[in-house]
Amino acid sequence: MGWTRRKPMEAMMPSHEGQRLARTLSWPHLLALGVGAIVGTGILTLIGVGADRAGPAVLLSFAIAGAICACAALAYAELSTMMPAAGSAYSYSYVVLGEGIAWIVGWSLILEYSLVVSTVAVGWSGYAAPLLTSAGFPDLLTRGPELGGLVNAPAIFIIAVVAGLLMLGTHESARLNSLLVVIKIATLSLFVAIALPAFDAQNLQPFMPFGFAKSMAPDGVERGVMAAAAIIFFAFYGFDAISTAAEEAKNPDRDLAIGIVGSLVACTLIYVLVAAAAVGAMPFTRFAGSPEPLALILREMGQGQVARIVAIAAVIALPTVLLGFLYGQSRIFLVMARDGFLPQRLALISRRGTPARITAVTALLVAIIAGLLPIDEIAALANAGTLIAFTAVGACLLILRRRMPDMRRPFRTPAGWLVGLGAIGGCAYLFISLPAKTILACLLWNAIGLAVYFLYGRRRAALNAG
Ligand code: ALA
Repeated sequence: MGWTRRKPMEAMMPSHEGQRLARTLSWPHLLALGVGAIVGTGILTLIGVGADRAGPAVLLSFAIAGAICACAALAYAELSTMMPAAGSAYSYSYVVLGEGIAWIVGWSLILEYSLVVSTVAVGWSGYAAPLLTSAGFPDLLTRGPELGGLVNAPAIFIIAVVAGLLMLGTHESARLNSLLVVIKIATLSLFVAIALPAFDAQNLQPFMPFGFAKSMAPDGVERGVMAAAAIIFFAFYGFDAISTAAEEAKNPDRDLAIGIVGSLVACTLIYVLVAAAAVGAMPFTRFAGSPEPLALILREMGQGQVARIVAIAAVIALPTVLLGFLYGQSRIFLVMARDGFLPQRLALISRRGTPARITAVTALLVAIIAGLLPIDEIAALANAGTLIAFTAVGACLLILRRRMPDMRRPFRTPAGWLVGLGAIGGCAYLFISLPAKTILACLLWNAIGLAVYFLYGRRRAALNAG
């Protein structure tokens, strides 16, 4: 009992009307939700970290991380159209892999979604702080204690705003999200339009200064194409947030696959262009590790005005990432609460059709993290949680193909076995390419999770009631 038991597939949809979410989203909303959750701190900031780890070969890192995410996205598309329920990888794992693995996946998703929200909020604050302090805002309130400040108030503020929007209602926020997504794409296009014409192949020499596999550089930093890919991976995910909207999709059969695969393909195309424009415009050492690499490149090219536009656009548009992940986080909580692992009272849907209480609790937790903790390595730890979830999704795809070959699959991914194995193997390789410290922290997080499961979750599981 417990660890290995599986949830029946029919039990995936909620039984109480009070817990059912309203179906208000069609495919353009889902596509915008995906692109809104994908394009963010990864391409705007971590591209500099990636260049620092891999040199010009960060282009390869982008391609590798993108290909692995493509496998995961196809697996998500097949599973989410078979089982359109809000819990995403956690729910699929409960049905396919059993309660224990599902708990680990759910626990990892909590890590992923929380840390992404915290990271992006702190990143947003990094862009917003100079604007605020020039208007008289106290400098001490723009950074956490470890960076010599008191608390990161702008990060807390932006989380509160986004949480408020989500509590007002999904549809309203989805519409605003679409508008911000357009701004984001326009900004990246502007960067490409200015930087790409300055492309100089000389800047790509030497192409792979730190080798391919992760290895320790003399300065104590783990480098290489794969080390960069394990960080750059952050830039690609977010499409999984769409599958958490499955219960709210008007036409899940068709629209989920369009949203998931479409948003990843669109973002990959944009990223490759942005990355090529960046490493081609100047030697990578000039922007590696910068907190605002794209703006820096533009400034160095003598385009100060455009650099400012890009910075302001980042401040306006980054909240779409917060929206996508805070939304996804509240849905994971909701589904885990329905399953008995969290207090049922939290799972109630408000009169506006949104899980307001869970959104508020989640926002509070991620705001504390964002307000107090520094941004470094939070992104890597978020990646670790995501990689565990993606690996589980790859495994679910393969096992269901064997166990239930004839079950209706509204979207059947081509080359299913290759896709499943690609997701599992690729995510495992990225995981071991993360910094050693991150891997350790992730294992610790899961050890705590297992303790919570055995001491609390297992006894409270809704499946205990039959
Ligand atoms: N992919 C998202 C970003 O880059 C998490 O911010």
